[in-house]
Amino acid sequence: MYVGIVLVGGLNILLGEPLTMVRFLRFSVLLVGLCTAVAGHANTAQPITTADDLGPKVEQPIEFPHDRHAGDMQINCMYCHTYARRSIVSGIPPLQKCIGCHQSIESVRETPRIKKLFEYWEGSKDGTIAPKTPIPWKKVHDLPDFVRFNHERHIQRFYFQQEKPVQEVCGYCHGDVKTMTVARRSKSLSMGWCVSCHEKDHAVDAVSTKTTQGPNDCWQCHK
Ligand code: HEC
Ligand code: HEC
Ligand code: HEC
Ligand code: HEC
Ligand code: HEC
Repeated sequence: MYVGIVLVGGLNILLGEPLTMVRFLRFSVLLVGLCTAVAGHANTAQPITTADDLGPKVEQPIEFPHDRHAGDMQINCMYCHTYARRSIVSGIPPLQKCIGCHQSIESVRETPRIKKLFEYWEGSKDGTIAPKTPIPWKKVHDLPDFVRFNHERHIQRFYFQQEKPVQEVCGYCHGDVKTMTVARRSKSLSMGWCVSCHEKDHAVDAVSTKTTQGPNDCWQCHK
């Protein structure tokens, strides 16, 4: 079934554009790559089991409360996710960043979660966690490997050029993270969902009326 979809999609593209050898070869690679990748993906994809729209809940080593840090304390998303503006990934803050603050915060020092945090820093008494062990956070969002996604381009466009507030920009794809007691997926991240936003007209900056659209060419989103 998937092979059929790929072939139909592929034919449209091949018929719509002059067929050079390079295009043909690149497309063949994509077809084979996608079919293999999709076959693998279909077997491992996690079904969404929760009834709400927040996606599957991931068990984290420490439940990190976004609501208290990004909500109550209003810490900027990009203070912790520092790579979003300049790289493919946003990045998860290193343990040092947590400790830098928590070393001087007495109010929650004796809570179970902060004790656990310091076990990763100082090592646990029973020796199961060595000092300075990075916290093994699990992925909440995880697109299949055959999809190409880039934070930088989206953040540059919506935050730096359109000058939208950072929480609104992250929210297009991650929902209202500042209210979450533990990070959850809230948007489908399906192909149709990405494409439907790319089909809209997006302003190129905060002042002019000029707009462009996101790419809808298979090559841009698949490798
Ligand atoms: C004090 C640091 C801090 C701040 C501020 C912060 N985050 Fe996070 N964020 C984390 C940590 C640590 C994780 C990993 C734990 C988890 O996934 O729950 C994370 C995870 C995430 C994830 C899930 C990552 C994945 O695995 O897919 C998203 C999305 C996210 N943050 C978005 C945001 C947004 C949007 C904001 C601003 C509203 C924000 N964060 C503010 C520390 C922070
Ligand atoms: C800018 C300073 C700052 C940074 C950076 C920071 N925190 Fe916090 N965190 C706080 C403060 C202040 C509180 C207490 C908030 C309150 O009383 O509601 C807190 C509360 C928490 C709590 C809730 C404790 C409880 O059970 O009551 C957890 C868990 C936590 N932080 C984990 C982390 C982790 C993990 C990191 C690194 C990814 C981190 N924090 C980074 C300032 C920070
Ligand atoms: C246009 C959609 C979009 C926007 C805008 C966006 N993200 Fe993401 N984000 C994604 C997708 C898709 C993934 C999963 C990527 C993957 O699995 O390859 C992701 C993954 C993440 C992750 C986990 C993996 C990583 O990249 O390190 C974090 C953390 C994250 N985003 C934070 C943010 C923050 C913070 C912002 C705002 C500054 C933001 N995102 C804006 C779509 C977006
Ligand atoms: C909120 C609207 C929106 C959503 C949602 C969105 N995009 Fe985009 N995307 C854009 C816009 C606008 C651009 C053009 C950015 C530019 O070049 O200035 C773009 C550009 C791109 C590019 C080309 C730039 C590059 O990185 O090479 C890729 C690839 C891309 N998006 C992939 C995705 C994928 C995959 C998803 C879904 C997981 C997605 N986008 C979701 C608006 C969106
Ligand atoms: C804007 C980005 C984007 C564009 C453009 C795009 N795709 Fe996708 N595609 C995705 C994403 C994201 C997924 C992963 C969906 C998921 O995991 O549920 C995907 C999944 C797929 C799959 C796996 C089956 C499925 O639906 O999950 C196939 C096959 C596929 N794409 C083929 C194509 C072809 C052929 C084109 C060109 C006609 C194309 N894609 C254009 C983003 C895109």
